Amino acid sequence: MKEVVFSGIQPSGSLTIGNYLGALKNFKPLQEEYQCIYCLVDLHALTVEQDPKFLRKNTLQLLALYLAAGLDPYKSIVFIQSHVPEHSELQWLLNTITPLGQLQRMTQYKSKSKLQEENIQAGLLNYPVLMASDILLYQTKYVPVGEDQRQHIELTRDLAMRFNSRYSDTFVMPEIMTPKVGAKVMSLQDPTSKMSKSDSDPNSYILILDDEKTILRKVKRAVTDSLNNFSYNEDQIGLRNLIDIYCAFEEINHSEIVSRYESLGYGKFKEDLAEIIIEGLKPIKNRYEEYIADRSELENIYRMGADKARKIAYKTLRKAYKKVGLIPR
Ligand code: AMP
Ligand code: TRP
Repeated sequence: MKEVVFSGIQPSGSLTIGNYLGALKNFKPLQEEYQCIYCLVDLHALTVEQDPKFLRKNTLQLLALYLAAGLDPYKSIVFIQSHVPEHSELQWLLNTITPLGQLQRMTQYKSKSKLQEENIQAGLLNYPVLMASDILLYQTKYVPVGEDQRQHIELTRDLAMRFNSRYSDTFVMPEIMTPKVGAKVMSLQDPTSKMSKSDSDPNSYILILDDEKTILRKVKRAVTDSLNNFSYNEDQIGLRNLIDIYCAFEEINHSEIVSRYESLGYGKFKEDLAEIIIEGLKPIKNRYEEYIADRSELENIYRMGADKARKIAYKTLRKAYKKVGLIPR
């Protein structure tokens, strides 16, 4: 039996190169060695208000992007979270063993709730419990995600440990899996904060589906510094972020980049970086166009994925229900 890899991305808008480098790019190579399960976490997306039309559209677009990034629905299980009701059901059980204080201390909760201080919903607070349920339902060993998800994985581990020690072994203890470079891509306009698709300034991020001109313009406008010193260090975080993006796309070391561009300067580096990003994304974009045009194939894929996922999820849920003393149906 292969070990299980599980990850999910929210269909809450177009993906950035942060999502790509931190998560999506790393999904494909895991398919050979592991049983991979890749979810479109539409229930998570509901923690901020969504326009129903856009949510539907974004979900299909994200599925097409998964496939374009090389996820093989016959090797991996690719499905939509809301099609497997066990996610919400296990979440309820886990809610009953989750300390409120721990949820209130989550950094993502703190930063997102600050944006809507007058109107914080319970779903925003409980969101990490749903994420724990996603992971634990499939007896997941590894969770490939960006660095910003580390705290949520810690919570998942705490809940698994608490449940297992209270009721006997039920869940596999999951581990985070982050890429060496690209685990935290920073904003192009403010390199102290993470690149995010919900940023109000579109120049702060590059989308996987941005056209070539837009990518070139955004890279050229990216904030660096006026030191005119091409090196990789703590004091030049804007430049360091761009070097990291270059490294993640090309899979080379930052010292190689520094020695290549020391004499060429920031301008030439940015031009080449834009080219590398454009070339790196091109095959995905082309395949995306094919997948998104075939609605019935997308439907077949998510239905097949949900059928496979439910079989596994149901088994785990039944076991957990029994252990806490619920009478089997
Ligand atoms: P989300 O868009 O929040 O659903 O994130 C989907 C995946 O992308 C998660 O694994 C995140 O950790 C990852 N991710 C999001 N933003 C970044 C970023 N700026 N750098 C690296 N990974 C990211
Ligand atoms: N919370 C993750 C994010 O915002 C998305 C997510 C939901 C997830 N459930 C998951 C990631 C399970 C990995 C495993 O990026």
